[in-house]
Amino acid sequence: MFTRRHAIHQFMAWAAAAPLARAQQRGGATLLDMANVMDFAKVAKTKLDPIAWDYLEGGGEDEVSLHDNRAAFNRIVIRPKALVDVHQIDLGIQLFGKKLEFPILLDPAGGKNCFFMDGENVVARAAGKTKALHITNGGIQKTLAAGQGPANWWQLTTGGDLRNTQTMKAFVKKAETDGASGICFTVDIMYVSHRERNIHNGLERGWCEIGIPKRDAEGRLPEAKNPERAGVFPSRPFPTPTWNSVKELRSLTTLPIVIKGILRGDDAAMAAEIGASGVIVSNHGARQLDHVGGTIEALPEVVAGAAGKIPVLIDGGFRRGTDIFKALALGAKAVCVARPYLYGMTAFGQEGVERVIELLRTELALDMGLAGTPTIPSITRDMVRTR
Ligand SMILES: Cc1cc2nc3c(=O)[nH]c(=O)nc-3n(C[C@H](O)[C@H](O)[C@H](O)COP(=O)(O)O)c2cc1C
Repeated sequence: MFTRRHAIHQFMAWAAAAPLARAQQRGGATLLDMANVMDFAKVAKTKLDPIAWDYLEGGGEDEVSLHDNRAAFNRIVIRPKALVDVHQIDLGIQLFGKKLEFPILLDPAGGKNCFFMDGENVVARAAGKTKALHITNGGIQKTLAAGQGPANWWQLTTGGDLRNTQTMKAFVKKAETDGASGICFTVDIMYVSHRERNIHNGLERGWCEIGIPKRDAEGRLPEAKNPERAGVFPSRPFPTPTWNSVKELRSLTTLPIVIKGILRGDDAAMAAEIGASGVIVSNHGARQLDHVGGTIEALPEVVAGAAGKIPVLIDGGFRRGTDIFKALALGAKAVCVARPYLYGMTAFGQEGVERVIELLRTELALDMGLAGTPTIPSITRDMVRTR
């Protein structure tokens, strides 16, 4: 019975990729058949075990925020300007004293090995090649040592490293010694939400560190020892981080500290007051608390809370140059993406990641050219209206 379900899933994935059928007939889609980010998603889905796909794509509980992250873009309308000289388009920005060639960053993503082995280093190399800023989950030292890593990268922490002064010092020392140009502290994952696709699939989270095991002839996976489950009452053995932890972290390093997972104006104001260097408006790709709205809906409030004191970045559902354009118009300094480059990596490895970055960058440049805004600073608030 499971084999049949598996077969149906594979067929559905193939059917979803139907627009790429012409390429499939030629013996498989190639990189240049990919016209946009979602084309990569279609190919990625055909390459993954369904439970890995669900881990990549899924969100928390009813996935209302997952839907909102995309749907909210459709309520924002671009107001293009006529007859501006757009013969040269410049996507460059300055972020924490460093020049970035384009305002698109690579978000952290754990469990990359269930999409592509050694995924973290694959992404680091792609970031190096395309000059994208990479927020890494860690473990990219060999790529950095080989001179193939990103020039600009931030080390992620989700708070475990900030438990006490000792662990915090060790974390900071390692980040600084490894050559990180910033620290990204994700604050929306003090607990892992019920991601019900994973629960239904009996996903063993550890598989995403070592690669999803092969199914047997009947299509069965090995018995999971510790599958994701619902109904485990939340508690932690140690106090979870607070604003005081950020204050202490600030006192230990001069590296920029960026708080990821902010959805309120008052939290952005607090981040600025406490000495954080920037915030990322994020709902963790809608993988954590559900019913928090699309991130682009929260952006104006957070920008107002930051009051120009610190830059506001954003992520969540960005798939198009126009999505990025809208966020920049609403006051974001830059946009981060996760699933887009994960689709690229799953479909075509390092080249796929590079191409996804290239496509998003080109779409944004094209949109800027068409909207009469040849530079990032020219994408001002009046460039969009809300329906
Ligand atoms: C497979 C996967 C793993 C993720 N792992 C992490 C993580 O370890 N730490 C973190 O802060 N965010 C993590 N995220 C969230 C992303 O950093 C980001 O906030 C979000 O996915 C952006 O939305 P997008 O995927 O629609 O671009 C993960 C997202 C995905 C899809």
